[in-house]
Amino acid sequence: MKLLVTAGPTREYLDPVRFLSNRSTGKMGFAVAQAAAERGHTVTLVAGPVALPTPSGVIRVDVTSALEMLAAVQRLLPFHTALVMCAAVADWRFKQASPVKLKKSEMRPVIELEPNPDILTTIRPLKEQRTFVGFAAETGDPLVEAQRKLVSKGLDLIVANDVTQPDAGFAVDTNRVTFLSANEPPTALPLQSKLDVGREIVAWLERHLRT
Ligand code: C5P
Repeated sequence: MKLLVTAGPTREYLDPVRFLSNRSTGKMGFAVAQAAAERGHTVTLVAGPVALPTPSGVIRVDVTSALEMLAAVQRLLPFHTALVMCAAVADWRFKQASPVKLKKSEMRPVIELEPNPDILTTIRPLKEQRTFVGFAAETGDPLVEAQRKLVSKGLDLIVANDVTQPDAGFAVDTNRVTFLSANEPPTALPLQSKLDVGREIVAWLERHLRT
């Protein structure tokens, strides 16, 4: 398959030194990219700002903001048969960003935000026969939220994980996830390395790819 993977956070700049972001380190997305490349698939990795080496054999495209990530996915998707959206896209950006560093005296205690587009929802018209996988990192009941996102984002598979557990989710090398897809009962996977979770996702894609 030709796999497009997104990874890491996005960064929304207020000025050249200040930004809004999240705790994502990119480890899960890089693991999916590595696992797919190891199986001989063609892999393009769209990475937000992360401190990780590019897995061997993977083409990497670096982006910063959610709008840049959306543009990269829109440009690259036509050349791929499957998409795994691991990125923790920032939900909001600053309504006004400054090209020069703002002085403290120029700043106000309330700064207006505007919503970023949902990348999966925006690219849904381009899906055609492609297989889309999303992630749901939750602090509440992961399965309830994941089921809702599976349907609302038009996904074939959603990988749910509870990010409140110390050995799963952000910035660790292990993950405990559940696979939820439209036509199969949920599958809870044991705690394992992110690379092994990546291998499970690639194996699922190999079984379910339509093109
Ligand atoms: O943030 P949320 O829990 O809604 O993310 C679920 C899925 O949607 C993830 O796969 C994420 O990469 C994707 N997403 C997106 N565009 C956004 C926010 C999230 O495609 N703006």
